[in-house]
Amino acid sequence: MTDIANHPTPNTDRLAAERDKYVASGVIGRPFFVERAEGARIWDVDGREFLDFVGGIGVANNGHTNPDVVAAVKAQLDSYLHQCFSLHSYEPYLDVCRLLCECHPGDFEKKAFLANSGAEAVENAIKIARYFTKRDGIVCLDNAFHGRTLMTMTLTAKVRPYKLGMGPFAPEVYRATGPYPFRGISSDDAIDGLHRLFKNQVDPSNVAAIIYEPVQGEGGFLPMPDDYPSRLAEIAAEHGILIIADEVQSGMGRTGTPAAVDHYGVTPDIMTWAKSMGGGLPISGVTGRADIMDCVHKGGIGGTYGGNPLSCAAAKVAITEVLDPNFQDSAKALGARMRSRLDGLAERVDAIGEVRGLGPMLGVELVDADGRPDAATTAATVEAAFNKGLIIMGAGVDSNVIRVLVPLVATEADIEEGMNILEQCLSDVTG
Ligand SMILES: Cc1ncc(COP(=O)(O)O)c(C=O)c1O
Repeated sequence: MTDIANHPTPNTDRLAAERDKYVASGVIGRPFFVERAEGARIWDVDGREFLDFVGGIGVANNGHTNPDVVAAVKAQLDSYLHQCFSLHSYEPYLDVCRLLCECHPGDFEKKAFLANSGAEAVENAIKIARYFTKRDGIVCLDNAFHGRTLMTMTLTAKVRPYKLGMGPFAPEVYRATGPYPFRGISSDDAIDGLHRLFKNQVDPSNVAAIIYEPVQGEGGFLPMPDDYPSRLAEIAAEHGILIIADEVQSGMGRTGTPAAVDHYGVTPDIMTWAKSMGGGLPISGVTGRADIMDCVHKGGIGGTYGGNPLSCAAAKVAITEVLDPNFQDSAKALGARMRSRLDGLAERVDAIGEVRGLGPMLGVELVDADGRPDAATTAATVEAAFNKGLIIMGAGVDSNVIRVLVPLVATEADIEEGMNILEQCLSDVTG
């Protein structure tokens, strides 16, 4: 691995100055410019090599520059680039809808719709749920992250940086208690909170959908407790409320299965997908019960670019790979290896309050001596790791969770090297 800290960075410095001059400063990001990427490795414009445990925030489950994805995109390039599916249909769109429907658990007919980003998928899921139920209310959870558009920003829980100064927010959104066992909020507490919300804020007969992430991502890599999704589904069914599982970050093999809800044995009415489904190209999707997905009048959902042919070509390969049991087995094995390394680390490093996650979607919550969220140590660890060539990232409403979204094609050597760096950095930073 390159000696990052002492490596000269003339190209980075030049591009960082350009970035400062031309890119709106509200977009975060360190001065780090990618030249090429492969598998779980990134090389920057100054020839520095990095091990990537973030994968473009969960987009590289199939590995950076996956050769099969690249070949499929190259083949599509020579045929046509854009049509607008609402105008001229094309087969790659159908392929992706079929594959996405296969990812949606449940013994019922499903249909799909394609869009461009995770937020756009969530927006459309809400539109469809409201249309179907003829109700306005949407219930979301504490610690949720669903995107940055008006509706999805409203659903998102973290005020800084996602909402500050950006209101007024979308109406008819209600936030229920989210389970967070490490912070003393159990499944029972969360279900009680939902019942209280139905008494204090909105009658369940006015609620169209409850949306939740089976593993909350930005909110701190919080897997829902085992019993929570099925209890939620029961309550929803009782009141004619739809369940939307947002699998934008937790889906597509991230937890070792096509969907994180596969771990819970529940079958959501509607699901949202994005990130790794495109193998690196922008695409997202909504899947759901066929009767729900078909409720909207012609033209009520759509968009210029949704399900772009290049993205569909890439997605067809990426999703097919995720549906392959061998891919899932190796993702689960990778998750188990990382989990045991992190659990071992937790025994040696006092600052680790909890290691949690599902399969290879893992987070490490850092706390101070009094057990309070330790954002400073988290930021310092992320920085120290970068200087040793490991890219990791924070998460959590309190910004005190290190999240691991390593490409699932990472080798055993990649994992060992990354874990060694993480251990060293945590020891250095926490003294
Ligand atoms: C669970 C979840 N939903 C929605 C989104 C928004 O996706 P996008 O950034 O593609 O709009 C994200 C992004 O991180 C996410 O993690």
